[in-house]
Amino acid sequence: MGTKISGFGFYVPENTVTNFDLEKKFDTSNEWIIERTGIQERRFITPNETNTSDLSVNAAKKALEMANIAPENLDLIISATLSADHSIPGMGVIIQDKLGCKDIPAIDIRQQCSGFIYGLDLADLYIKSGRYKKILLIGAEIQSTGLNLTDEGRDLAVLFGDGAGAFILENSKDTSDIIDSILHSDGKYYKELWKESPNSTHKGRVLVEDIQNGNIYPKMNGRTVFKHAVTKMPAVILELLKRNNLTKEDITQIIPHQANFRITQMVAKRLRLPMDKVYSNIHKYGNTTAATIPIAFTEAYNEGKFKKGDLIITVSFGSGFTWGANLIKF
Ligand code: ACO
Repeated sequence: MGTKISGFGFYVPENTVTNFDLEKKFDTSNEWIIERTGIQERRFITPNETNTSDLSVNAAKKALEMANIAPENLDLIISATLSADHSIPGMGVIIQDKLGCKDIPAIDIRQQCSGFIYGLDLADLYIKSGRYKKILLIGAEIQSTGLNLTDEGRDLAVLFGDGAGAFILENSKDTSDIIDSILHSDGKYYKELWKESPNSTHKGRVLVEDIQNGNIYPKMNGRTVFKHAVTKMPAVILELLKRNNLTKEDITQIIPHQANFRITQMVAKRLRLPMDKVYSNIHKYGNTTAATIPIAFTEAYNEGKFKKGDLIITVSFGSGFTWGANLIKF
């Protein structure tokens, strides 16, 4: 039993926010953002009009259309996000309802930037076990409404964008598109990139002080995240290659989580790979967290970076810390 990627697609909101637009909101500059991150623009939703589940449904419809599958024929939904519509319930059930699926199970996972990598492994194992035959996997985020768009929050505010991407995974009798996956986490670093509030020890989850002192916004130790990202992503790629008796020369395209262009450049440098083998589209969308991998995968395919039969590695690193990689023979 194998797992076939039969459909993929993505959706980003229409509203484009350039670095020059951010210059008008807080003390930053187009030059600083481009030099440190490679980002030129990102998409932000119009607040109070769109939920993360709406972005998810738009991306899912494209993947379903490519796979030629009706929503009522899906067996399972796996939804990866750190920005679900609500804290209760999870977002998977809302996607299940909005798509008009049967009463199939819907699982929410929250491994932040590594959510899609974890979800792909989960979907692959469910299919290979024979439990489910047609799975919708989604990575989606609305980051813009959760950012501190003032001088105080500028280090993180320039990095993130909104968007969603989706895969349809199906069972296949002969070959498997998903060859192998390796996942890791190291929770001792969880405060290096985190959001303190809402907090389960606080009555009502969010205190007035949390709002006043900015604990409702994400906080990051950028240098520590950078150091770990540029170490762990190459390491897990090499681990995956070794376990499958492959060399980096066998891989047509590496599709990394779009965290920051400097991180992507450093991953390529440490693996001694030319930049045209390590995909980047961060200049257009910023860091869309759980959505970067399916968005990048779709754009890389549309740009002819890989074709049927090629070997691809998707790799990620993010808050937790969590990281991992999938080996795909597309
Ligand atoms: N605009 C202008 N200046 C800024 C901004 C901004 N948006 N943000 C910070 N600065 C200032 C700082 O205040 C500081 O000023 P000072 O020297 O007067 O004190 C100066 O720029 C340098 O700040 P540093 O934090 O030292 O900048 P650094 O060179 O480390 O770059 C960055 C910051 C880009 C965040 C870097 O640490 C990095 O790339 N980290 C990786 C983290 C990352 O990309 N995370 C993505 C999300 S996590 C993930 O997806 C894996």
